[in-house]
This record gives sequence, structure tokens and C-alpha cells, in this order.
Amino acid sequence: MSPGTRTPLIAGNWKMYKTVAEAEEFIQALLPRVSTADGVDVAICPPYLCLPAMLDSTRGSRVEVYAQNMHYAEAGAFTGEVSAQMLLEVGVHGVLLGHSERREYFGESDRALQLKVPVALDAGLRPILCVGETEEERERGDTERKLRHQVQEDLAKVPVDRLGDVVIAYEPIWAIGTGQVATPDQAQEAIAFVRALVADRSREEAERTRVLYGGSVKPENASELMALPDVDGALVGGASLDAESFAAIVAAAR
Ligand code: PGA
Repeated sequence: MSPGTRTPLIAGNWKMYKTVAEAEEFIQALLPRVSTADGVDVAICPPYLCLPAMLDSTRGSRVEVYAQNMHYAEAGAFTGEVSAQMLLEVGVHGVLLGHSERREYFGESDRALQLKVPVALDAGLRPILCVGETEEERERGDTERKLRHQVQEDLAKVPVDRLGDVVIAYEPIWAIGTGQVATPDQAQEAIAFVRALVADRSREEAERTRVLYGGSVKPENASELMALPDVDGALVGGASLDAESFAAIVAAAR
């Protein structure tokens, strides 16, 4: 499959970091650093409260603004939750779904994700679905089984012709926030496998599907990862909090 036809995406997952004031400071430092990054899509995923300010500050730039989570219902008695409509109203472009921290600490289930992914697509929000194995699963030889389960379950209700509109982020959980990045071979193998799972439903859509690598991506390792044939970009946590290092990762994807 030709990676040349897919525009790389570098997305920064801020997690629960940055106040609005800190986010403003960051974005003013980032924008001039990525203004010439042609051929790369750039997104930041700030906390909900920073979304309006970041949408304002990035208007007219190449930087898109994504939320970190979303409920599948349009509205309802779901204290603490935010719907696709609410994100759309403020102009959000996309949404992270199923990050391993949501799955691990907040009970995010494959069943809920099965509902969330098509709701996001229908609303016009680009979903980034996160999948990945634990260290234990890798050691047991269960990496493929885990990925197959997550990809098949979470995309089960996505119509075939929309599969290519879902971005999938392969994030081995043992690599998240640990500094222990997957080797190029591990990343390429898992990401090619993820793409093959999409191809089981549609080869054509699998060629359109962008599959990102995530887990301890840094300016020092980004070029090597981005050069892998099936890797279409990165989901970056820690290194996305600093404008200079995030911009360096964007530059590596060019
Ligand atoms: P990390 O986080 O880059 O800090 O490892 C990645 C993620 O959680 O998406």
C-alpha cells in the first residue's frame, strides 16, 4: 500500500495539562514554528476548557483542534460528559476516542467506543481511535489478538465507506509516558497489522486509513518512526506540551 497518498497527521494529546493562559502561551509559540509545514496535518487535543480559546487562536492556521473524549448520546443525564453537538458548536474538528488512560482509569469500553466512533463521524468530527496492548499482553504473545479485538469491535458500526475517515492510533501501553519507545520493527509490524484488519473489510478504505504511532514519541526518534512505510504520523503526549519539541516532531513528518 502506498503511504504517499496519505497526508501524515501529528496530533498532540495534552491530557490534563495546561490552563487557558498556558495554552495561549503555547499556541503563540507553536504557530510560527509550524506555518511552513506543508503536507502535514497538525492537531492539538487540549482539555475541554481550552477548546474555544485554542479554536480562536488557531483560526486561519494549519493547526486543528480536537477534544480528548466525547459521549455517544446527543444529550441526557450523563453528569460530567460532553456530546458531539457541543463540540461541534464551538467548532472542534475531531476527537480522540478510547485512549488507554480513558480505558484504564475511566472504564471506557469497546461497547461504548462502538457507539462513539460512528456518532463522531456522523457529526463531522474526525475520530482518532486509540488501540494498543499492555506489556503483559505483548509478553504473552497476545498483541495481535488484542489489536484485532479492539479494531474489530470499535469499528463494527462504522459503514464500510467511512472506514478510511477514522484515524487509528496504535499506542502500545508500555510505551506511553515511559520513555520506552517501540522499536521501528515493532511499530511497523503492529501498524501494518492494524491496516490489514481494516483491509479485511475494505482494501480501498485501508489504503485511505491513517494509522499513527503513539508512545514516547520525541524529536529524537520521530524521523525514524515517520519513515516507516505504514506509519502515517504520531500521537504525541509529553513532547506535545512544549512548542519547540512538538514543532520538531511536525517537521520530522514532512
Ligand atoms: P507519550 O503519550 O507521548 O507521553 O508517551 C502518548 C499518548 O498518551 O498519547
